[in-house]
Amino acid sequence: MLLAEKSKNKLLETAKLVSQKAYAPYSHFNVGAAVLSNNDQIFSGCNVENASFGATICAERVAITKAISEGASKILALALFTPTSTLTMPCGVCRQVMSEFMDPTSIIYISSLTKTVSFHFKELFPNPFNKTDLQKTSIHEK
Ligand code: THU
Repeated sequence: MLLAEKSKNKLLETAKLVSQKAYAPYSHFNVGAAVLSNNDQIFSGCNVENASFGATICAERVAITKAISEGASKILALALFTPTSTLTMPCGVCRQVMSEFMDPTSIIYISSLTKTVSFHFKELFPNPFNKTDLQKTSIHEK
């Protein structure tokens, strides 16, 4: 599904704006994300770091969890912005979390100071581990 130019621009603007709220005193790497939910709302998120580094949450997961906790059940599109000269791709943990709520043809916009590219989610994460895997039974050899 391709978004109308207006929705795409709104998503990208929101991701850019929220990157200014990043709490990144350790990496100094600001990230902003915005998601469009099935109920046609936009939710934003920035990265929130922690002195215990492993407790850091990426911008994408902040935006997604905000959407779901406000009643959304699907993410139709996600925009990721970093104020950098080159593009930044979403980390693997975020791709796994996206896979729970996005379809293979959902759109990901990735944007830097100089350019924006778009992908179908399946291009970034073609074979997710998902709930169907949990229905399988493990067979242990003795
Ligand atoms: N970060 C994100 O917010 N999203 C990503 O997909 C990659 C990494 C953040 C986490 C951390 O605050 C900083 O970037 C450096 O890893």
